Amino acid sequence: MSDDGAPRTAWLKDARFGLFIHWGIYSVPARQVGKNSLAEWIKSREQLSDRDYDLYFDHFDPDLFDPEGWAREAADAGMRYVVVTTKHHDGFCLWDSAFTRYKAPNTPAGRDLLRPLVEAFRSRGLKVGFYHSLIDWHHPEFPLDGFHPQRNDEELKRDAAGRDIAKYRAYLHGQVRELLTGYGRVDYIFFDFSYGPGLRPEIWGGKGPDEWGSDELLDMVRQLQPGIVVNDRLGLPGDVTTPEQYQPASPLPLHGGQSLWEGEQTLNGSWGYDRDNAEWKPPEMLVQMLVDGVSKDGNLLLNVGPTARGELDDKALELLREIGKWMRRHNGAIYGCGPAPFTAPPDCRYTSKGNRLFLHVFCWPFGHLHLSGLAGHVQFARFLHDGSEVQREEVDPAQVPNTVRMAGLPPGTLTLKLPVRRPDVLVPVIELFLRD
Ligand code: GLC
Repeated sequence: MSDDGAPRTAWLKDARFGLFIHWGIYSVPARQVGKNSLAEWIKSREQLSDRDYDLYFDHFDPDLFDPEGWAREAADAGMRYVVVTTKHHDGFCLWDSAFTRYKAPNTPAGRDLLRPLVEAFRSRGLKVGFYHSLIDWHHPEFPLDGFHPQRNDEELKRDAAGRDIAKYRAYLHGQVRELLTGYGRVDYIFFDFSYGPGLRPEIWGGKGPDEWGSDELLDMVRQLQPGIVVNDRLGLPGDVTTPEQYQPASPLPLHGGQSLWEGEQTLNGSWGYDRDNAEWKPPEMLVQMLVDGVSKDGNLLLNVGPTARGELDDKALELLREIGKWMRRHNGAIYGCGPAPFTAPPDCRYTSKGNRLFLHVFCWPFGHLHLSGLAGHVQFARFLHDGSEVQREEVDPAQVPNTVRMAGLPPGTLTLKLPVRRPDVLVPVIELFLRD
């Protein structure tokens, strides 16, 4: 609960749709490593040394960086909040941290890249979230565990035997303090990630609440930014559960203090910019993911991986704009909406808010849609994109099949009469006004 008694996640639940940004020096190599992409993991996947990886630090030159442009695109896509990587697992910091030289101001970028983003998001009315990696493959006291790029460097492993994670922990806490005191109000912090006992510690080297000092860290976060939303990857229950790259089949079981889940999804399988990856999800699939999440009481945090020159690439922009075109007309079926107490017909989803029920049609049916349990409950129905009426009919359950008269529908069914041609929007939505 926040100070005023409302759940801390109230704004987040209402917003439903946000932009995830993964931006760092991994946008220079920009290549796919292994089967499941994840270009931001390159240092670990290719087992690059600090020296190899410095090439990307030295050539990170985002001369086309346009924070206002990013914020405008997010807002125009209908997103209401943004979560940006302050530091990813490679340890590179986007802001001007006093604790390290491994930061944007020391690359050709020559400045703090986080501050202008925060300002641009705020001025567009977007809530601000920070993604912060608990893992750090650059810090000299971070152990050479199973994910570490130098895990097979026998010589370094001998030298690194005495690494003291307590020193890294102090660095982690110090940087989080810096981020939560130097950038005004931060609405959301997304820590990433813990790999505890369930995740084969004999291979990966297990890290969780003890290594991160999660209890202490969480206390500090709450004290510095009361009201901030904290995700669930500290190895402690957080405010929001964060399933990644899959759509839950039903509302996720929430535990601890959690009250919300948020699906983390990519546009093309990679979080960081991946130049040659063409596995772009079609725009209608992205909208369907958003709708599917809201119909199961969840959010969508949709990722972009900007380029090394500081731009959202053309394909990402095209997708965001297509989504925005849909959101402009349909956001009433998303913002502040949640699941409905009715079962939707096949290939459809319901979202609802108050006495409005929104039927999202993923696959266009033959002429009619039969809605179970809604007979007698609907006062008016219209397409949301143009406000035009959708005609309804309640078929007599006693009707026997006879040529063109519909029959065989269970009692309580409401039938909608649809045009033959599917409306030309990514996902057609029918708004049903329920009787009180
Ligand atoms: C992960 C990955 C990562 C990505 C992320 C997004 O656990 O390690 O590269 O940042 O989560 O949810």
